[in-house]
Amino acid sequence: MSDELKRIEKSAGDEIRAAKNLEELEKLRIQFLGRERGALTLILRRISELPLEERAKIGQRANKLRQKIEALLDGRQSALKQAVSESVLRREWLDVTRPGIRPERGHLHPITKVLREIEAIFASMGFVVAEGPEVETEYYNFDALNIPEHHPARDMWDTFWLRQNEIKNQPSSRAQVEGKSKIKKSERLLLRTHTSPVQIRYMEAHNPPIRIISPGRCYRHEATDASHEIQFYQLEGLMVDRDISIANFKSIIQQFFSRLFGEAIEIRLRPSYFPFVEPGFEVDIRRSQKSTFVPSSGRGKIRNQKDEWLEIAGAGMVHPNVFKAVGYNPKQYQGFAFGMGVDRIAMMKYKIPDIRLFHSGDLRFLKQF
Ligand code: FA5
Repeated sequence: MSDELKRIEKSAGDEIRAAKNLEELEKLRIQFLGRERGALTLILRRISELPLEERAKIGQRANKLRQKIEALLDGRQSALKQAVSESVLRREWLDVTRPGIRPERGHLHPITKVLREIEAIFASMGFVVAEGPEVETEYYNFDALNIPEHHPARDMWDTFWLRQNEIKNQPSSRAQVEGKSKIKKSERLLLRTHTSPVQIRYMEAHNPPIRIISPGRCYRHEATDASHEIQFYQLEGLMVDRDISIANFKSIIQQFFSRLFGEAIEIRLRPSYFPFVEPGFEVDIRRSQKSTFVPSSGRGKIRNQKDEWLEIAGAGMVHPNVFKAVGYNPKQYQGFAFGMGVDRIAMMKYKIPDIRLFHSGDLRFLKQF
């Protein structure tokens, strides 16, 4: 039995020290000290078989060994527990003094920013925003604007036509309902080439006086370059009342650009042709400070760069035929209309050299605004 005690002492010491976790340690406790079949328990049970003089000696040694094994188990247990909590601490350690990670926040696209500024300026001058569909009918995009089928002016707008021709129950134009117009309303669908159809839709639904702006996307089937995109933004303007003249237009547009650019802006009207206005003109603007906006290549519409005039809009006095198409009496009312390129304005304002950057999806570009 003495040998057995020595063996137990040795293997208990080795195995307890090698225990890797609390479960293994519990198994060792049962193996050596378990009440039923623990190695030491079995020895103590057989102690009565020994001669009387040895019983006390072996009994004492066995009890000391139990205390030693218990101490070993306890020591190993606290070492293992500490290791566990240290590893948890290491894993879950949180430095509350570190600066947080800022969540990425989106921001407005430069075109949206410019549009909002433009809308605010016109709103302060009494204009309201009117909207129209991007998928338009031939009637609103062309016919009602005094550009009937086969009119050569249709070549001014390279059009994306849509294949289907199934819009039914479109609200008829007021002029047609009242039988005042001979224009045949075409329902062929297209992507609007300009925002001018909104003028027609608005005049059909409202009586003068009218003061609207209509921002929105337009589409043209044309080659792209630094100042031309197939998808771009225009802002239409329309003012209709009695006694409206070109002088009213000039004053409003000059005020508008001066406020948008925060400096005095010169305006120049050049005679031009748009079928829906008479007379028609192109609007050029010139900043007092030197503009750095220089289109990099191609057939940029930007004219006369030497003296820094920039073509920014088409405009004119609403053509009598347009008034007739919406059922207004052209002898009673006059109005001016204009359509400006919003992308071009944003390019000038932010000194962006190429219109194609706007829809490139390049974050390095977009993050600058
Ligand atoms: C028009 O589209 C007329 N509807 C404007 C108008 C309205 C005239 C009311 C008279 C009365 P124009 O095709 O010139 O006109 O286009 C107007 C402006 O849109 C241009 O001056 C330019 O700034 C912008 N624009 C035209 N095509 C493109 C394009 N492909 N990419 C970017 N901007 C363009």
